Amino acid sequence: MAPDLQKLDLQKITSIRSRLDRPVALIGMMGAGKTRLGKMLAESLGLPFVDSDDEIEKAAGLTIPEIFEKFGEPYFRDGERRVIKRLIEEGGQIISTGGGAILNADTAHELWTQTVCIWVKADLNVMLERTARNDKRPLLKNGDPREIMTRLIEARYHIYEQAHITVESRNGAAEDALAQALNEIDAYLNQSRMRAEI
Ligand code: S3P
Repeated sequence: MAPDLQKLDLQKITSIRSRLDRPVALIGMMGAGKTRLGKMLAESLGLPFVDSDDEIEKAAGLTIPEIFEKFGEPYFRDGERRVIKRLIEEGGQIISTGGGAILNADTAHELWTQTVCIWVKADLNVMLERTARNDKRPLLKNGDPREIMTRLIEARYHIYEQAHITVESRNGAAEDALAQALNEIDAYLNQSRMRAEI
């Protein structure tokens, strides 16, 4: 869905564009809304959007469930680390990462130091409802999705919390999440400039 640019603060967007010297990366759980927010941010800021899962699928010539099935999760995670490193090095884009990308310490370090990193956060029920719409998440297939998601939340939230920015994603309020993300990016860039000047 293209964001309604009329409603956004064009001056703020121009100012963000002139100061943004790193890619913006979105992290967070499956179904949190990283892709939706990422595409809207890309559209508003006039930057390309890339999704690490799509890039892994392209590189492997296989879908994510096929990679998990044929080669297992550690193999997928290694490909994910390499792909995200490359996407960050390419610069100048909005990168949506797979929910488990931050489990790799190298990837997490790259995200904290080389990107403006946004944790997209949603309620468990919202994430369950969104992930139930398709069959694309192998990790949710081996048991009760609510239990699996709850376990993943316990293991991951303390890492996601290290992102520079947190944005709440609710059903039906995509423009709100976009406005929140733009405000927070603006504030974060101001802070980093102030830190650089001290
Ligand atoms: C995963 C999330 C998925 C995908 C893979 C594993 C995870 O991406 O990378 O199925 O470990 O949370 P999304 O977060 O885009 O669904």
